[in-house]
Amino acid sequence: MERLTSPARLMIVSDLDHTMVDHHDPENLSLLRFNSLWEHAYRHDSLLVFSTGRSPTLYKELRKEKPLLTPDVTIMSVGTEITYGNSMVPDHGWVDTLNHKWDLGVVKEESGKFSALTLQAETEQRPHKVSFYVDKSKAHEVTKELSQRLENRGLDVKIIYSGGMDLDILPQGAGKGQALAYLLKKLKSEGKLPVNTLTCGDSGNDAELFSIPDVYGVMVSNAQEELLKWHAENAKDNPKVIHAKERCAGGIIQAIGEFKLGPNLSPRDVSDFLECKVENVNPGHEVVKFFLFYERWRRGEVENSEAYAASLKASCHPGGVFVHPSGAEKSLIDTIDELRKHHGDKQGKKFRVWVDQVLATESAPGTWMVKLGKWEQSGDERIGCTTTVKFTAKEGEGLVWEHVQQTWSEESKLDDSSWII
Ligand code: GLC
Ligand code: MG
Repeated sequence: MERLTSPARLMIVSDLDHTMVDHHDPENLSLLRFNSLWEHAYRHDSLLVFSTGRSPTLYKELRKEKPLLTPDVTIMSVGTEITYGNSMVPDHGWVDTLNHKWDLGVVKEESGKFSALTLQAETEQRPHKVSFYVDKSKAHEVTKELSQRLENRGLDVKIIYSGGMDLDILPQGAGKGQALAYLLKKLKSEGKLPVNTLTCGDSGNDAELFSIPDVYGVMVSNAQEELLKWHAENAKDNPKVIHAKERCAGGIIQAIGEFKLGPNLSPRDVSDFLECKVENVNPGHEVVKFFLFYERWRRGEVENSEAYAASLKASCHPGGVFVHPSGAEKSLIDTIDELRKHHGDKQGKKFRVWVDQVLATESAPGTWMVKLGKWEQSGDERIGCTTTVKFTAKEGEGLVWEHVQQTWSEESKLDDSSWII
């Protein structure tokens, strides 16, 4: 969060399963649409927060399965664990507040007496979260009885039912809503309260997100019954909370538009990327557009025309160099010629490209360095590179690509045979 020196223009706080991630869309199209919108228009001055019920273990698994961006803040285990940045530094201050009237041993002992409750996987049992599966028909009764017993033992807990099957027991001061309130307070104390905050969810454990004062909320179209019921009973007159018409990340994009929180046209929704104009010149935009073009080129979704190759070459410095992650050097112009040969080679195949953490800095007047993660999914294999691009602004010509350098990301296999750029 230190990256921003002033308040975020927009902070998105989103659930993952069935909200940011559509498990019914093997192509991940709405997520990819969201990703390019975020990197194109928001990354540089806004904050992305993921708030999931998953433990760190299952969260990391999801990151491997789906093309998720890297958030600024990760809230896991239903608001009981908050971490910051790429290296996920834990917020110990938050954990300390959760011990109030909480005793893990007692919670396990009392909940273990209910035969209707089936314990979830070991990874999902956390210091401030005990989780079970329970049948819909029994959820209400079990919740009532268990709350009473834990209260009798001197504890103050919160029991949340989600997705028509999951039952979580947390300290009363925990949960996604309380974790968000804590984060907002922290940002405010640093003079960085976001201008707007949009919360996004689909199930019971997200309800709290929509009760935080002054935030916008979107329940995606595919929201669960228990969330819609909560909304009807508690928030139906709040104009800041909507039930989107679109599923998952599509609903988030829709809400950005309806609440007028900023640009809501994803570059992926623009068919001719050369036409995609933005108000301010930001070299980050160039990179997002280029890699989207690269995906479409290899999928054979754009015409194999001279005009495209000429326009790409025109935006490169004639002496520009590309350092391939293998270490080999080539001129940028030769790299474009190489790319031309690969037109349509991924046609009809599972092939997607996305960029993450696109951040530009002006290193000298008119010279920009853009750093980003570039990812490529080909079939079931995914590889990524840390990419640095140097741009120079030329009077009347816009931005010129001067130098591109890539190094393999830690997770990527060092097989460079198919990597073009
Ligand atoms: C995630 C967690 C699970 C929890 C559920 C609802 O699926 O893995 O433990 O019960 O979210 O919060
Ligand atoms: Mg969910």
